Amino acid sequence: MTIPENEKQPLKDLEEWEEDLLVRYPDPETSKTKAEYRDYDNPQRDTVREFYRLNHKYQTYDFVEEKERNFLKFDKKEMPVWEALEYLNTLVDDSDPDIELDQLQHLLQTAEAIRADGHPDWFVLTGFLHDLGKVLCLFDEPQWAVVGDTFPVGCAFSEKIVYPEFFNDNPDLDNVNFNSRYGIYSPHCGLKKVKMSWGHDEYLYQMFKDYLPEPALYMIRYHSFYAQHRENAYDHLMDDHDREMFEWVKLFNPYDLYSKNPVPPDSEALKPFYQDLIARYLPPVLSF
Ligand SMILES: [Fe+2]
Ligand SMILES: [Fe+2]
Repeated sequence: MTIPENEKQPLKDLEEWEEDLLVRYPDPETSKTKAEYRDYDNPQRDTVREFYRLNHKYQTYDFVEEKERNFLKFDKKEMPVWEALEYLNTLVDDSDPDIELDQLQHLLQTAEAIRADGHPDWFVLTGFLHDLGKVLCLFDEPQWAVVGDTFPVGCAFSEKIVYPEFFNDNPDLDNVNFNSRYGIYSPHCGLKKVKMSWGHDEYLYQMFKDYLPEPALYMIRYHSFYAQHRENAYDHLMDDHDREMFEWVKLFNPYDLYSKNPVPPDSEALKPFYQDLIARYLPPVLSF
């Protein structure tokens, strides 16, 4: 499938999607109300809407398979983890330097919040690396094929997914194999049998699946699956094991969303700790 150039980058930067999540799911622990986050009616809303229009139109079952064939070969680039994080940081949008935190800062803040709560080292490492899959953006992928809420393909799209009306443009809606409640799946078949829309979550899960404990892999693979971990829209595909593992996904989510702080962490001071943690679980060089 060829994607028109003008349908690739609707957002000013990837953070616009994450900021929008805070409007949808405000932090219940703080006094911040929806109004204190960016105004829901501001012009950024239009770019986020456009982002979801494209995401829901193009994320078909075939599209996901095409991306899997291309990216799960991991033949694009070899990088040590820290170098990959620095590479990811070239994504930062510098038009707004006072308020934008770069990717490394978001990862450190997430991981440090997990560490401060005394969680196991693999959980801290998961917080530190959960968005590394966003390097896809540097391989010239459209923003809506890297970030955004993820959802199952191969079965009906839930009304609980954000902007469900945009699925009217998705060709899978007219495919009789895919457009019923269960589609190609069966009741409670388990998510391991379910193909998700393509993005940084699935890509990093596939890269790390032999190295991290299973709860960490669930957190990485499903952290953008808001339709399930916040809305329970796909209970009918989940098995008992998924339900157990999603307790970890739910535990992880607030660290991802609510650890953002305008004070940047001292990445140089923290580097030795995280380098050591990386070496405990991952090979020295990763294939992207
Ligand atoms: Fe993410
Ligand atoms: Fe994140």
